[in-house]
Amino acid sequence: NWTTGNILEEQVERIRQQVGDARVICGLSGGVDSAVAAALVQRAVGDQLTCVFVDHGLLREGEAEQVERDFVAATGVKLYVANEQERFLSALAGVSDPETKRKIIGREFIRAFEEAELAIIAEAAAHGEKIKFLVQGTLYPDVVESGGGEGAANIKSHHNVGGLPEDLQFELVEPLRALFKDEVRAVGAQLGLPQEIVGRQPFPGPGLGIRIVGDVTKERLDLLRKADAIARAELTAAGLDNEVWQMPVVLLADVRSVGVMGDGRTYGHPIVLRPVSSEDAMTADWSRLPYDLLARISSRITNEVEGVNRVVLDVTSKPPGTIEWE
Ligand code: XMP
Repeated sequence: NWTTGNILEEQVERIRQQVGDARVICGLSGGVDSAVAAALVQRAVGDQLTCVFVDHGLLREGEAEQVERDFVAATGVKLYVANEQERFLSALAGVSDPETKRKIIGREFIRAFEEAELAIIAEAAAHGEKIKFLVQGTLYPDVVESGGGEGAANIKSHHNVGGLPEDLQFELVEPLRALFKDEVRAVGAQLGLPQEIVGRQPFPGPGLGIRIVGDVTKERLDLLRKADAIARAELTAAGLDNEVWQMPVVLLADVRSVGVMGDGRTYGHPIVLRPVSSEDAMTADWSRLPYDLLARISSRITNEVEGVNRVVLDVTSKPPGTIEWE
C-alpha cells in the first residue's frame, strides 16, 4: 500500500542506483507521463539529465509554453528545444488520409528527435561524456497492454511521442513502470509540476494533425487552436474538467456551409465538439454537457474564430464511433 511520498522516494532512489553518474536524455511531449518521468529523474540526478522537446506545431494553445517555460521553471531541468514547425507542415502538405498523417508525423518526429539527440551527444562528447540512458514514461497499463493481445487498440496505429529510435543504443530508465495514471498525477503534483500539465487530459501524439479533417495547413492549425482554446476554457470555467475524459475539438476543413452574419452571407467551416466520458478510452459515451455551456462555447467560437460559422456536437458513443475523428 503505497503513499505518494514513498513512491516518490523509492523511485528517486532506484533511478540514482541505475544511473550512477552517467548522463541521461528524455523526450518531453507536453503530456503528463513524460513530464513526471523527467521530473523524477531530475530530482534524482539533477544536471546529468537533458530534456528534448520537439515542437512540431501540432500542440494546442499554450502547450509549448507550458513545457518551455512552466515545466523548466518548476523543475530547473536543462531543456533542448527543436523548433520543427516548418518541417512538419511541409511533410504534411497536401496529405488528408489519417493513417498517412500518423505515419508522417511519427517518422518526422523520430528523425527530429534523433537529430536533437545527436546535438546533445556531441555537446556531451565535448566534455568527455557519453549519454548512456534514455527516459521513457511507460506506465503499468502500457506494460500490460504491449504484453497481451489487443483488439480495438490496434484499429488505429497509436503513435506515442518519445518512442525509442532504433539505431541509437541507450539503456532505458522507466520510473513510471509500476504506476497507474492517478499515481503518476499525484507524484507530479508532489514534485511541484504545474496543474495544467499534471491534470492534462489525454491528447494524441499526432496532436491537432489528426483533428483537422482534410489536409493540414498553418492557417487551419491556428483556427483550430483558437476554437479549441475557447472550448477548453469554457469547460474548465464550468467546473466540468473531471466529468469529461477528453474533449477533442475537430475542424471539418473539407466541409463548408452557408451562414449569415450581419447582413452578409458566410461560407465557413464547422467545428465539432466531441466531449466523451470513459474509463480507459476503449469504450466511451458522449458527455451530456449542460446546454448553457454548449451555447456559450458555440456563440464564442462563431463570434471569435474567423472562418467558422457553425458548431456541432458529436452524440455518438464508442463503438461505433472512435473518440478522435481520424
Ligand atoms: P480512438 O480515437 O481510437 O482513441 O477512440 C482512443 C484514445 O487514444 C487516443 N489516440 C491516440 N493517441 N496516438 C496517440 O498517442 C494516436 O495516434 C492516437 N489516436 C487516438 C485518443 O485521443 C483517445 O484518448
